[in-house]
This record gives sequence, C-alpha cells and structure tokens, in this order.
Amino acid sequence: MPASGVETGWFPISLRLEGARVLVVGGGEVAVNKGRLLLDHGARIEIVAEALNGIVQEWVDEGLARHVGGRVDDAMLRQVMPGCRLVYAATDDRAVNRVVATLADSLNIPVCAVDDPEPSTFITPAQVRRGVVRVAISTAGGAPVLARRLREQIESWMPEGTGRLAAYMQSRRPRVSEKYPAVQDRKRIWEDFLDGAGAEAALSGDEVRADRTLDQLLTEQKKAGEVWLVGGGPGDPDLLTLKALHFMQNADVVLYDNLLPKVLLERVRRDAELIFVGKQRDRHAMPQSAINAEMVRHAKAGQRVLRLKGGDPFIFGRGGEEIESLVEAGVSFRVVPGITAASGCASYAGIPLTHRDCAQACLFVTGHARADGVLDLPWDDMADRRQTVVIYMGISTLPELMAGLMKNGLPQDWPVAIVERGTQPAQRVLTGTLATIAEEAAAAKVSSPALVIVGEVVNHRVISP
Ligand SMILES: C[S@@+](CC[C@H](N)C(=O)[O-])C[C@H]1O[C@@H](n2cnc3c(N)ncnc32)[C@H](O)[C@@H]1O
Repeated sequence: MPASGVETGWFPISLRLEGARVLVVGGGEVAVNKGRLLLDHGARIEIVAEALNGIVQEWVDEGLARHVGGRVDDAMLRQVMPGCRLVYAATDDRAVNRVVATLADSLNIPVCAVDDPEPSTFITPAQVRRGVVRVAISTAGGAPVLARRLREQIESWMPEGTGRLAAYMQSRRPRVSEKYPAVQDRKRIWEDFLDGAGAEAALSGDEVRADRTLDQLLTEQKKAGEVWLVGGGPGDPDLLTLKALHFMQNADVVLYDNLLPKVLLERVRRDAELIFVGKQRDRHAMPQSAINAEMVRHAKAGQRVLRLKGGDPFIFGRGGEEIESLVEAGVSFRVVPGITAASGCASYAGIPLTHRDCAQACLFVTGHARADGVLDLPWDDMADRRQTVVIYMGISTLPELMAGLMKNGLPQDWPVAIVERGTQPAQRVLTGTLATIAEEAAAAKVSSPALVIVGEVVNHRVISP
C-alpha cells in the first residue's frame, strides 16, 4: 500500500536494450508487435512458442531472433529466463501469460503481460519517435485508445527534424561546457539557442548556420537576471496562458505562495528551485519586504526568477508593490496577466458577470478588513443595483459585508452566489440572498479560496445540460 501522497502511477524510465536478451513468450501477432519494437532498439530476442507466425519465423531464419523453446512449462522457462533483461508474456492466452509473469517476477526480471497490467511489473508506453528523441505516453495500461490519441496529437506538432536537433545539441555539448562550466549558465545558453534561429537551422540540418548562432551566444556577455511576475489563473491548469507556461518552463527559481494550487506548480520546470513564501498553518507568511528582497537577490545573481501568483498579479495580488521594489533595485521584469478569479469562477459557475438586462458594470472589491478590523469599502458604489459586485477575500467578513450592503440600500432578497475553489475539481457553488448567504456559507463550511458574486446576474446562472 503506498504511503499517502505517493503517486501510484507507473514510473517511466528509458532502458538500454542494445545487445540485451529479451524473452518473448508467444509467436503470434502480439509477439510480432512487441518484437518489432525490441528489434528496433537492438535487443536479442529469444522466443518461446509452439507455433511461429510468418514474420517471427523470418526473424528466426535471419538470425534476428532465436527460437529457444516450444511448449510453455515451468522447467524450461526457468532455464531460459535467467540473464534476460526483460520478459514479454505475449501469448493469446491470459492464464499462460500470468504464469509466465509470476515466474519472471519471482526471478526479479521485469515482465510485461501484454494487455494485462495487473501481473505486469512494467508496461510498454505508446511512443513518438524522432531520431534519438522519444516521447513516451502511458495511461497505466488502462486507456490505450487515449494513449494513441495523445500520440497522434504529439506526432502532429513535433517537427520531423527534432531528432536532428537533439543530435546536434548532443554533439556541441563539450563546446558549451568548456566555455560555461556552471550548469545554470549552460542551461541558459541552450534555452536561448532553442528560442532563436539556431534551433530552426539545426532542425533543418543546416549545421553551419546553427554553429554560427551558437558561437554568437557563447561569445555574448553573460545575461543579467530578471523577474517574471506571472499570473497562474484560478486553478485549472488549462487556463494558464501560453506565455505563463513558457516562463514556468524556463525559470531558474520560483517564488510561490499558499494560494497556488499544486497542479499549477507541477507545470513548472522540474529542476527549478521552488521557494515557498506563503503562510502555512502555524508558520507565518514571509513579509512582503522579504519577498521583494528575495526576488532582487536571485535576479542580481543572474537567475530568471518566476514570481508565480494565483489569478492575475495586478488584481489583489500586490503585483504593483513588487514591481515598484524591482524598479528601485534596478532589476528588469516582465508581467504576464492571468485569468482573475472573478472571470474564472463566474465562467465555471455559469454566471455572466455582466448582462444586458441587469448589469451594465462590474465592480471588484476586497472583503479584507483593515488591521483595525474596519471594512473600508465604497458602500455607495457597491449598492448600485445596475451592476455586479465581486468580492475577493470576503469569506471571513461575510456577515458584515452582507449587512453593509443591506444597510446601504440593497434589498434582503438581493441575489448572491459563492464560488469556492472555482475552476478546480472540488469547485462548489452556493446561491442565496444577502439575508441568507452568510448562514448558508457557515453551514456548508465554505473555506478560502472563495469568491462572492452579488447581483441579479446570479439569477441568470445557467448550467450546461
Ligand atoms: C489575494 S486574492 C488574489 C486574487 C488573484 N490575484 C486573482 O486575480 O484572482 C485571493 C482571493 O481571490 C479569490 N480566489 C482566488 N482563486 C480563487 C478560486 N479558485 N476560487 C474562488 N476564489 C478564488 C478568493 O476570494 C481569495 O481569497
């Protein structure tokens, strides 16, 4: 039983098979499919099968495979299996495959019972191949049609010359390492190379032009660091912008806080340094001044710093303060907008933020009280009926907020919705009125992050049939 939080999926690795013995039990069509892949990777195939189909027989005749046994029995398999790097149980009889798999596993040899993940200790992923480049897609053996569909999609956008590009980069590694011994610097050179004309040249096989670009990068001054202030949207990773994803894949250091869903962090480049700057249970949040100093410190050390924020960095995200501190420190920066919680939550909850019939404007306000506990809000503006009011951070002060709106002229039965964890798998939507919603939210134990939407648009909520 895996420990909690441990991923139960299959662990992907790339295995060298050149010259290795691989046992294939079965001599029919399934064995042919696996055998082809194995031969492509230089394996020495040993076959155990009573009958061989035409193709397998040809392999045996041409010396590409060895027919080492007929009927599958325990004694014979025990003789053949030791020394094999892998075993494929590829007969059309599931029970026989399971016997083979059990034996191989007892000998600690990785085994794949074809189309039967349960007794298998490895499975063969769908592959996209371009020269030395392999993209493997696994659905834990449970959805091969989906794996095939994903493979088609990757096939369609992966340039034909990708293998050439990989081979080029491999061959020029020594030159780059010699000039830049530090891993960080080398990464930077290769990323700039991939973003520029050099990659295109290498993809098309024009190594002279590719070398020219690479040489130019190698002789340029080392680049200064910078900060990318990026909005990650409200939680659904499919709502990340292409630009956000690009920066997430290229950052050296990432500063993030507790509002950020884990799934978004999973899209960040694996080897980036992740620095948590948020508040966690009994730990205190890093003060804003310390976050600013941390960004400046890393950027001045030449790193590309990603300040990843939920939603949009300029909407209740303190993005303005952060870039002011960067300007003061002379650090260059870029800002990437994200989908703010109001847009994301309203869309996923089926509530239009404006509507020709009832809401000609939309107001975003914060429900966060000042340090002295006072809600310092533009109550008159908020009580205008021809608009929608979206309240961020309004859960802890919800009773006061609702009471304030009624006191300033909105009726008790004015519609209100709360969207908790909007756009995320655990999204919940509550609807009620100014008079009832605070009680409903308390009863439903609504917690942060949650957004409050006030106005007649809530009555126009539509859910797809
Ligand atoms: C500090 S503000 C940051 C807002 C963010 N910059 C944006 O543009 O969405 C945090 C508040 O945004 C709202 N929020 C952010 N993500 C949300 C989500 N997925 N569902 C509901 N509310 C969300 C909540 O009101 C939360 O308390």
